[in-house]
Amino acid sequence: MTPHLPLPTQTTEEKFLRQIFVRDQMAEWSKHPLVMERADGVFYWDVTGKRYYDAISGIYTASVGHNNRRVIEAIKKQLDTLHFSPPMHGTNPIAVQLANLLAEVAPDDLSTVKFECGGSEVTEAAIKLARQYHRLTGNPGKYKIISRYQSWHGSTMGSLAASGLKSRKTVNEPLPAGFVKVFPPTCYRCPFGKSYPDCGITCATIVDSVIDMEDPSTVAAIMVEPIGHTGGVIDPPEEYLRILREICDRHNILLIFDEIITGVGRTGQMFAAQTFGVTPDVICTGKGLSGGYIPLSAMICRKGIAEAFWGPIEKNPGFVEGHTWEGGPVACAGGIAIIHEILERDLCRNSREQGARLRSGFERISQKYGIIGDIRGKGLFQAIEFVSDLKTKAQFPAKPGFGVRVGKRALEQGLLCRFDPHWIAFGPALTVTAEQIDEMVAILDKCIGETLAE
Ligand SMILES: Cc1ncc(COP(=O)(O)O)c(C=O)c1O
Repeated sequence: MTPHLPLPTQTTEEKFLRQIFVRDQMAEWSKHPLVMERADGVFYWDVTGKRYYDAISGIYTASVGHNNRRVIEAIKKQLDTLHFSPPMHGTNPIAVQLANLLAEVAPDDLSTVKFECGGSEVTEAAIKLARQYHRLTGNPGKYKIISRYQSWHGSTMGSLAASGLKSRKTVNEPLPAGFVKVFPPTCYRCPFGKSYPDCGITCATIVDSVIDMEDPSTVAAIMVEPIGHTGGVIDPPEEYLRILREICDRHNILLIFDEIITGVGRTGQMFAAQTFGVTPDVICTGKGLSGGYIPLSAMICRKGIAEAFWGPIEKNPGFVEGHTWEGGPVACAGGIAIIHEILERDLCRNSREQGARLRSGFERISQKYGIIGDIRGKGLFQAIEFVSDLKTKAQFPAKPGFGVRVGKRALEQGLLCRFDPHWIAFGPALTVTAEQIDEMVAILDKCIGETLAE
């Protein structure tokens, strides 16, 4: 028998950390490595025993909190019954049940589901769905995907090509062709130099001109996050998504909402589509649907689109897209438990209520220090943007950036939030309490004060 290889016990030592790629710049990260050991509710504990408030649900993923017993028991029970079903030849009852549950909670006639394991897989599946749908309905020339600068749709080559972050794209170029970018609705710093509401919502209406320039007969879909994350929580003016919907209808273009972050209660309704009152043709949802327990994501499309894939076998190959782990019964059992938890505990309401409390907390900090130029987002997905001058909107020096300095200090003081040079975002579990929101905001307040005094 092969003896067990020894596992490192001091997992924060550099010689052991050198054996793993992390998402951060590794040499820098290994100076103060964050290595988590356990979690419960809205808290993490690292391997040294230090406790952290988790103000971003891991990364907008632990929707119903860490160590949620209902989800864990559902997963354990499923493991004892059927841990894997054959994805090439069929499905399993748990996947069918979750698909039906999602059809119930999704807006309007979005009712056919493709399961995947993560956000990148599911946004890429939506791109393929749009292209194949147009082929099946007599428009094989429609293949281009319009998306936005500063957006993030995933790490695989297709989803990366749809993304608009040069910091993550350039190093991987050249990327697949057929992706066109437009400017995002960053009202606070309008890319067209205008001001809302007299701007005519140029960020949306100009998409019509872009389609015209590209040739509408070549455009398959527009893909947007209803509220963009990268770029600093880009919350569009209320007309924006409605205008995109109208443009898509006029040109026979599918509207895809990437709700990997905004889905499953985060903006105060089950989907941001409902928060904004705009129905897309496809919703991609991920992070919060899995709760962080077992990888799970889902693409939900409208009935009419799904019907195009039901043709006779001689003419129609079905949806040509698939992954080994899609619709796994264990992941789907977790997903069902999460949706039930959200519905029964009315966590969408909690998202709205605690979101309002979070907004008040951010506003208090803003009045206290005079360095927060904008507060954006909805429900439990909100950010603050730092400026050195409220009038001119001038930013603090980018390196290392005021937001990074505050965020790192917050980590030292036991608060995990999302930080960039110029902004900080919160997205705690939908189960968060008023007291916990106040405590997270209090740590942030202290860290901003200390960073300013540095
Ligand atoms: C809006 C959005 N779409 C897609 C993705 C990709 O998801 P994943 O990392 O699960 O592949 C992310 C991940 O951060 C995201 O935020």
